[in-house]
Formats: sequence, structure tokens, C-alpha cells
Amino acid sequence: MTEHSFIIRRADPAEARSRVGELADILLDCVAGGASVSFMTGLTRAEAVRFWTRVAEDVAEGQRILLVAESAGRLIGTVQVVASGTPNQPHRADLAKMLVHRDGRNKGIGAALLTHAEQEARKVGWWLIVLDTVEDSAGDRLYTRAGWRRAGLIPDYALWPDGRLCGTVYFYKDLRPRPPLQIAPETPDQPEVRQFLAASEDYSAALYPPESNHMLDLSQLLDPAVRFFVARRGGVALGCGSILLGQEHGELKRFFVANAARGQGVGAALIAAVEQAAREAGISLLRLETGIYSAPALALYRKAGFVPRTAFAPYQPDPLSVFMERRL
Ligand SMILES: CC(C)(COP(=O)(O)OP(=O)(O)OC[C@H]1O[C@@H](n2cnc3c(N)ncnc32)[C@H](O)[C@@H]1OP(=O)(O)O)[C@@H](O)C(=O)NCCC(=O)NCCS
Repeated sequence: MTEHSFIIRRADPAEARSRVGELADILLDCVAGGASVSFMTGLTRAEAVRFWTRVAEDVAEGQRILLVAESAGRLIGTVQVVASGTPNQPHRADLAKMLVHRDGRNKGIGAALLTHAEQEARKVGWWLIVLDTVEDSAGDRLYTRAGWRRAGLIPDYALWPDGRLCGTVYFYKDLRPRPPLQIAPETPDQPEVRQFLAASEDYSAALYPPESNHMLDLSQLLDPAVRFFVARRGGVALGCGSILLGQEHGELKRFFVANAARGQGVGAALIAAVEQAAREAGISLLRLETGIYSAPALALYRKAGFVPRTAFAPYQPDPLSVFMERRL
């Protein structure tokens, strides 16, 4: 199979019924490969066929959307979106049985199935989708990459096919169209921003001793050498970030994104805004200091091209600090 040589489509009830054998083969392969997907080692072909026969019945009743990935005439992957089935959740569905045969892994089939599943769910008005998957698995990475929000982890929730316990992560995605993200220079002296600053101070205080926290306070952020930006969607503040413009470099300060807005590219957009502010001020070197335990921030800065460096003035080396820089 060469890259991108697959197609994804919604299976109609007739196709769902006629291809239960191939769907069973995908399920059997995933279980044989050690995936925790409801079934245990020893799953027989007859049981797998029975499972897919019931799925085909639900497809016929409109309670389930079945998507398949086909490569050279052979089904190689599948996923389902299942209506919640309760009158008070007409907008909600579950994503289930995301399965790619081992012959087709790591080619983007999982990601493509997910994109199509989201599109199909949107079309029928199911805009809140929930799923669960094994923690630290390929599925966990797939959903995180696709912008799904992690609702939480339940330890020892299910079994691997060989009987060991495994933790389960619940994810959800709100598929309603969102107003565009807007980043603008604003004053930090406003209630929403003061809340962000307080939340980030609480976060840092829980992780680091006071001598390792180097945040500019509100009065320092009002200095004319600071360009302060707020990210909003539909008027609602989602996060903030700023740059302290110096003679030779600009320093990123007070980046914070509200929990509910994480994973939507808000941090990256704020970095782009401060980079633009640096360019306009004729500065081509950006630096920052952050804490060693602040994993999401470190990931964001790395992704934005920042590389680690030694401590720079006015900081002293600190085992709890990471210093980074990026040339524009
Ligand atoms: C989870 C699962 C569906 C992912 O399917 P997949 O088709 O391999 O998914 P993708 O190809 O989109 O992504 C898988 C990896 O390949 C990489 N990839 C995608 N396209 C690629 C390409 N063209 N070249 C190289 N790598 C590629 C992705 O970045 C990803 O890397 P990562 O796992 O290190 O983060 C599959 O592993 C599976 O069926 N597992 C068993 C069943 C299971 O656990 N399902 C989840 C139940 S909720």
C-alpha cells in the first residue's frame, strides 16, 4: 500500500451487512495486536462477525454511522459514530471502534477516519462527541493531535486482551463552528486578564518556590516597553501573552491560556503576535525563561522554534528554570 492510496467513505446499510467478514478481520487483527477494544484474546471469527452484524443492524436503524477505509478494494480501517440514544442528549454521540489493520498503520488512515467521522457527525447534528481510549496509546496521540479535549483519566478502567488492567482516557470534541480567533494589543489592567494572571500565579506557586518565579506583575506589565496581547473568540478572552522589548532581545512574559481554550492553537497565535511586535520594533532575537515542570509551555515553545540556552541577564542559573531563545 502506498501513501494516501486509500479512500474513506460512509458505509450504507447494504455495505455494512455485506462486508462484516472484512470488518471482523480488522477487529481480529487489532485484538491480536494487543489493542484494548472491548474484546479479549481468544476472540473468535464467529464472535467478531456477530459483533459486526449487530453494528450493521444499528447502521440500518440510523443509530450509528459506520465509516470504512478501503485500499485496493480491501477494507483496512473503520470507525463508528454512535448516537447517544437518550432524549436529553440529541446533540451528543460516541466515537467507537477506531480500528486500523496493522497492515495499514502509520499512514494517516486513523487521522483521515477521524476527520470524516467528525464531518459526518456534524451533518446529522451530533456536535458533542465523546470517546475513550487507552492512556499513552496510539489512539491517545491521535485524538490529542486532532484537537480533542482530554476530560480525564480513569486508572484500571479496562483490560488489555491478555488480562492486564489499563487506564482509560476520556476525550470529547465540540464540533460547533467557532468564531475566529482574534489577537489584539490590549491593556493587562482589565478583569479578565487579571484573572488569567492570578491563575498563572497560582499554577506557578504550586510548582516552584518564590525565588524561582520571575513573573512581571501588573504594574511592570504596564511599562511602555511591554507589548501585551489578549486572545479572544467572539469577544471572550481565552488567553494572554506579552513581550518585554529590550535593546538586543525581546523576552516573552506572562503567557497563559485558559484551561477551556487549551489545544486550539491560542498559545501559538499569541507567540506569532509577539514575534510580529518584536519585528516591528527591529528586534530579531527572542528569549524566555520558564519552569522545568511546565510541560505544556515547554512543548509550545519548542514547537514555535525556541531552543534551550544558558541563563541570560538578569537571571541566575536555576535548576528549576529552562532558558530558551529563537532568532527571527
Ligand atoms: C489508533 C489507530 C487507529 C491509529 O491508526 P493509524 O492509521 O496508524 O493512525 P495515523 O496513521 O493517523 O497516525 C499514527 C501515527 O502515524 C503517523 N503518521 C501518519 N501519517 C504518516 C505518514 N504518512 N508517514 C509516517 N507516519 C505517519 C502519525 O503521526 C502517528 O504517529 P504517533 O502514533 O507517533 O503519534 C491504530 O493504531 C489502531 O487501530 N490501534 C488499535 C486499535 C485501537 O487502539 N484503537 C483506538 C480505540 S479508541
